[in-house]
Amino acid sequence: MSKRTIVAMPGDGIGKTVLDETIRVLDAAGFEADYVEGDIGWEFWKKEGNPLPQRTIDLLAKHKIALFGAITSKPKDEAFEELADELKEKGLVYSSPIVGLRQHFGLDICARPCKTYKNNPLNFIKRGVGDTIEEPEVDAVIFRQNTEGLYGGVEWSNPPANVYDALMTHPKFQSNFGEVPVNEISVSTRIFTKNATERILKAAFNHAKEYGYKSVTVCEKPNVIRETSGMMYKMAQQIQKSDYPEIQLWNTNIDAQMMWLTKNPNNYGVIVAGNMFGDIISDGFAGLIGGLGFACSAQMSSEGIAVFEPTHGSAPKYADYETSIVNPIAMVESACMMLDYIDEKTISTKIRKAISDVISEGKVRTYDMMKMTGRADVVEKGAASTTQMADAIIAKF
Ligand code: NAI
Ligand code: MG
Repeated sequence: MSKRTIVAMPGDGIGKTVLDETIRVLDAAGFEADYVEGDIGWEFWKKEGNPLPQRTIDLLAKHKIALFGAITSKPKDEAFEELADELKEKGLVYSSPIVGLRQHFGLDICARPCKTYKNNPLNFIKRGVGDTIEEPEVDAVIFRQNTEGLYGGVEWSNPPANVYDALMTHPKFQSNFGEVPVNEISVSTRIFTKNATERILKAAFNHAKEYGYKSVTVCEKPNVIRETSGMMYKMAQQIQKSDYPEIQLWNTNIDAQMMWLTKNPNNYGVIVAGNMFGDIISDGFAGLIGGLGFACSAQMSSEGIAVFEPTHGSAPKYADYETSIVNPIAMVESACMMLDYIDEKTISTKIRKAISDVISEGKVRTYDMMKMTGRADVVEKGAASTTQMADAIIAKF
């Protein structure tokens, strides 16, 4: 069989280090692939005025599967300042290449698993009865609709007349906002489509079925946001009834769910939500299993294009350390999701087992796992470097 080609998009800052180390882990685990580098991020914005060059889009269209590190984003004015002088007159406006990738390829399904590793010092613990301490074992996978909803970008400040007139046809707008001058109004829409809602719900149910989760929870707010959240829950009921009767359908409100995070996080299996609530709830669960050093994700389209990335950013303050101190596990875990996706489950299982062994042994821990403040001297003080953590994982194969 011919080797697979994976597009490796390191991006900026620590994205480069964690991706390099991850490829070393993949090689050592026996995953045979060629990697082609995809340019993305701040460097290309500064040099070329485009953080997501067309050649990177072409590479991904051709090879379909990508590993992505992280990028740096900065506010509009700073972005302009850092642009190469010869590009400054061209009227270029910075926009996030990640959002660009999602939109271009319709990466509408985002999966973020949050699973407790035994003996991770960052695991959430809570007080039990009397003096007891409990450490709930979290094993939740959040499916977040990745392209619509509140992050869909359909918004206005001082909306144009036709938009304002359309809003005025709604009795609630008339009664609650009808007296407000139009230039004092900002509107961000929350649009859900049936097609995308069905896709994220089915992805969630399929995952529950394939990996043996007993429940799918729709985490929205249908009692208040009746049209969008309401549609998602209604569709979930239909899909569950017709295709997944063996899986329980639960329904929680995002606000209550956040409160319950620390009460019974171990009760939840697969969770599905729209874009913003999915973002919130996945960060919430990630906090229970170790935070950014452990939070991995997959973004997938209906056309078989998929990008696997840690949820952390480029952590610029650590980017220039001579010895990198950040935890590579979130990136390695994201690569494991890639292996699952391309049906290389023997290798992903092997890597996850190695990570689990390293963590449970407790000898090699990055600074975050040692609850240190991230500084250049943490390695001297006993924390593992990024490379040492990758070495420790590899040593378990
Ligand atoms: P960040 O995730 O880069 O860093 C926040 C803090 O989390 C770090 O200072 C560090 O203490 C910790 N951290 C992050 N990754 C870690 C790891 N692997 N191991 C141990 N600790 C880790 O977020 P921040 O500082 O808000 O943003 C920095 C830059 O990254 C910004 O330019 C932002 O726009 C960008 N960003 C990019 C993302 C992406 O590429 N998907 C996501 C989030 C932010
Ligand atoms: Mg987030």
